[in-house]
Amino acid sequence: EQIEKGGYDHFMLKEIYEQPNVIKDTYRGRLHANEGIIQMAGIEDNIEKFLQAERILIVACGTSWHAGLVAEYIIEEFARIPVEVEYASEFRYRNPIITSKDVVIAISQSGETADSLAAIKLAKEKGAFVFGVCNVVGSSISRESHAGAYTHAGPEIGVASTKAFTTQITVLTMIALRLAKAKGTLSNSDYFRYLQELEIIPEKVAEALLTNDKAKEIAAIYKDATNCLYLGRGYNFPVALEGALKLKEISYIHAEGYPAAEMKHGPIALIDEQMPVIVIAPKQGHYDKVVSNIQEIKSRSGKIIAIVTKGDTQVRGLADHIIEIPETSDALSPLITTIPLQLLSYHIAVMRGCNVDQPRNLAKSVTVE
Ligand code: G6P
Repeated sequence: EQIEKGGYDHFMLKEIYEQPNVIKDTYRGRLHANEGIIQMAGIEDNIEKFLQAERILIVACGTSWHAGLVAEYIIEEFARIPVEVEYASEFRYRNPIITSKDVVIAISQSGETADSLAAIKLAKEKGAFVFGVCNVVGSSISRESHAGAYTHAGPEIGVASTKAFTTQITVLTMIALRLAKAKGTLSNSDYFRYLQELEIIPEKVAEALLTNDKAKEIAAIYKDATNCLYLGRGYNFPVALEGALKLKEISYIHAEGYPAAEMKHGPIALIDEQMPVIVIAPKQGHYDKVVSNIQEIKSRSGKIIAIVTKGDTQVRGLADHIIEIPETSDALSPLITTIPLQLLSYHIAVMRGCNVDQPRNLAKSVTVE
């Protein structure tokens, strides 16, 4: 097992560090930035289904559901197709309205999650076209889907999903861009810019991994916290949810993710000097709005840990700690902002003596209800 961990203390850390490479594996042969081409067989063969779809429904569980939320923002912005994201477990039991004009995307690392599998069987019965985004080749969901695209992240051993999440977002971003090209919903220059940016994302992820020492330093300060709040807006709202999930899964600290502006409708009541608040505040996106949220936290003495774009000065003056990440466009930022949050959870869990790779009560793949 030590050999399999490749010199890392835990599979989770190894998998966090694999992300620059596996994101490349995910787009290799599919993304041709200079030529302006995205080619994924599962999409090319079925492009009409997507273009004629009245909406796209995404079903998933856990971390994969968070990737689905990011995809909702990206697909709607780039390709202008309405998207709904559902927990597979809710979808399958609520007699959903679903027709042959729907495309259903199931996202699943393992391809074996019982609720997700049942959801696609239901969608198929109702005549929808089902597209699987799975990591495990030959898995049940990939076999049951009409078509699909693998994430090519390699085996993920740590129960807390990391590289599966970023590679799912990579695949879904490519799908959004491919559909945008077919529909003409992005300008040529934006389309090319996003392709080029996606191609260099692995370098930015590698740069974001350099925040490890800082994350460890902050982890040492907050490892005994009993609650944590994660806030983000727009593309980084799902990242806040994922950051909170990662922390509770492996460190057993209660954590909640919230859209930053919703803070005033509840979580703000929890803020005092005992409450660490992790705010995702990159320059692109709704920066000014997030800065005012930070001010609100500060005036209630909350401890602020902010994820900011390199060179940021405004938040630096307000936050207790900042973690700097490379600049990215808003739509691609989840691939970067999520990295320091993974590292922070990892270090807190290690410092609390938790079993990082196999947290209590959790399973890598939930194949029963
Ligand atoms: C379990 C795992 C999570 C994962 C979720 C969905 O809860 O512990 O890490 O996100 O299942 O799994 P899937 O394989 O469908 O992505």
